Amino acid sequence: MENSFDVAIIGGGINGSSIAHQLSKMGRKVIILEKERLACQASSAAAGMLAAQAEIEHDGPLFQLALKSQAMFSDLSSELYEYTGIDIEFLNTGMFKIAETEEIALELKKQVSFQQNWDPSIQWLDSRELREMEPSLSPHISGGMYLPNDGHVQPSKLSHAFAMAAIHFGAVVHENTEVLSFIYENGHVKGVKTTKGIIHCEQVVIATGAWAAKLMHETGLDISIYPVKGECFSVMTEEPIINTTIFSDKRCYLVPKRNGEIYIGATMVENSFDKKITAGGIATLVERAFQLVPELKDAAWCRVWSGIRPQTGDGNPYIGEHPVWKGVFIAAGHFRNGILLSPITGKLVAELMNDSLRDDTLLTHFRLDRHKEAVS
Ligand code: FAD
Ligand code: GLY
Repeated sequence: MENSFDVAIIGGGINGSSIAHQLSKMGRKVIILEKERLACQASSAAAGMLAAQAEIEHDGPLFQLALKSQAMFSDLSSELYEYTGIDIEFLNTGMFKIAETEEIALELKKQVSFQQNWDPSIQWLDSRELREMEPSLSPHISGGMYLPNDGHVQPSKLSHAFAMAAIHFGAVVHENTEVLSFIYENGHVKGVKTTKGIIHCEQVVIATGAWAAKLMHETGLDISIYPVKGECFSVMTEEPIINTTIFSDKRCYLVPKRNGEIYIGATMVENSFDKKITAGGIATLVERAFQLVPELKDAAWCRVWSGIRPQTGDGNPYIGEHPVWKGVFIAAGHFRNGILLSPITGKLVAELMNDSLRDDTLLTHFRLDRHKEAVS
């Protein structure tokens, strides 16, 4: 078995696979090492919303990164289809971020004027206007921010499409292969030790989502990445009852998928690597969903699932180079927005590793050494 590569990417989630796609397209010899199966963790549990404006409420480095990534999806969808034949189900059908109280309505109206700086088509709709567009919404909703250009994808398909595109350009994928530690000589990484043997390489990317702190610790860095479990369920209706994503707050949203399923998510359970789906968690979501769209009571039940979001101490992902160990890079901690951020993460990390990143200002706030105390 071949065991020598330019780059070993640890973690076959959406971010590892996106980086693999970009690096192999640049001609680098890449291997993805995945402990279980490609996209088996958060990257297949996500709702797939590309919700830069709904999820990130203030301008700043993360918001700007998210907008850049959001703008990449249309071209990416055609490019990945061309290389892999996988349709990532990119739908640009918009989103309503709704207000159920006058207080929230006031807050959202302020957000509308701020968001119009980036997208003048964003507008405030009152209850009547909202219901003209989505008649199934409950009349108690007082209005909402309408984001006509917001979209979503099928996250597991996007994640697999990145990996298949990487394979198209020559990458190798080893599933059921856990990376245990690094081979490190004279200040430079030389490879990794896995449950299936040694892989030699000049560069390594840690893209292990909520599990990233463990391998970072091996390199002498104590960074804060911790798990936040999210539970979801889905239903199906004979005729579509909503066409647009309904985002109520960070604990309840409804995403109508192309196959007719409506994804309804998601709980937030901090510090849980346990993917157990609780009756209480799903009951809360069901109750919230019925309040928003009463007709859902007649929908057919499909399935429940859960996943582990990778959150960081300051809420920003870690994307960059190890401050001490040469050849080690990280892309982890994308929390609620890892699907949205996957295209830009892949592009920037690949350019950084290839010494072809022309402007690194976008990455400044995501560097590993932003907390000096973590660097020993
Ligand atoms: P992961 O997908 O967790 O992948 C990490 C991989 O590393 C795993 O496959 C794991 O098995 C592997 N691994 C770990 N340790 C090792 C090791 N030592 N060796 C080898 N492999 C290892 N984001 C959005 O943008 N939009 C959404 O609508 C959205 N909705 C979400 C809803 C829910 C319920 C959840 C849970 C998340 C949601 N997210 C959403 C967030 C998004 O899913 C994550 O941010 C993203 O999937 C993280 O991807 P990743 O590749 O960094 O990590
Ligand atoms: N971004 C949606 C979630 O994390 O639940």
